[in-house]
Amino acid sequence: MASNSIRLSSLLFLVIFIHAKADLSQPKETKMTLYFQDYSGGPNATVIEITGQPNGLLSFAKFGAIFCTDDPITEEFDESSAQIARAQDYKGSTLEVQGSSAQFERVREVAVVGGTGKFRLARGYATFETIHYDHALHYAVIQCNVTVLHY
Ligand SMILES: *[C@@H]1O[C@H](CO)[C@@H](O)[C@H](O)[C@H]1NC(C)=O
Ligand SMILES: *[C@@H]1O[C@H](CO)[C@@H](O)[C@H](O)[C@H]1NC(C)=O
Repeated sequence: MASNSIRLSSLLFLVIFIHAKADLSQPKETKMTLYFQDYSGGPNATVIEITGQPNGLLSFAKFGAIFCTDDPITEEFDESSAQIARAQDYKGSTLEVQGSSAQFERVREVAVVGGTGKFRLARGYATFETIHYDHALHYAVIQCNVTVLHY
């Protein structure tokens, strides 16, 4: 799992380098593997449905259902490993992902359609795979691999 830290350090280096050069001719590729710590219920839920019944069960299969997520994002599988972002933002920089994420597919692929801050003009793709699920705790760990081109 040390490779995750190495990957993140090289990302930070890359970001500083890009910032100094501000070179718009050559997009850089960044690959990251991140872990979303996701609670879909209980007192500390990190995902809520913002359409439909406010306190009902989350119904991912319901047509028109929209969810708002603020999962802690960690460097490794372990929930207590270093938190490096929230599903909301990464130190003020953001990646915008968009697409159809079929909840019960093993791997969901979505497009990265843009970004801000360190990820300006980003485009690429991300995969989400639920690698752990505890029904009683409504707790899931979702492994997210992101590949983006950005400046
Ligand atoms: C919810 O979060 C609080 C504060 O961090 C913690 O004390 C509590 O144990 C958590 N509850 C559950 C069910 O995880
Ligand atoms: C995501 O990356 C991890 C680590 O490189 C790899 O083990 C896993 O198979 C990848 N998942 C997908 C869906 O490509």
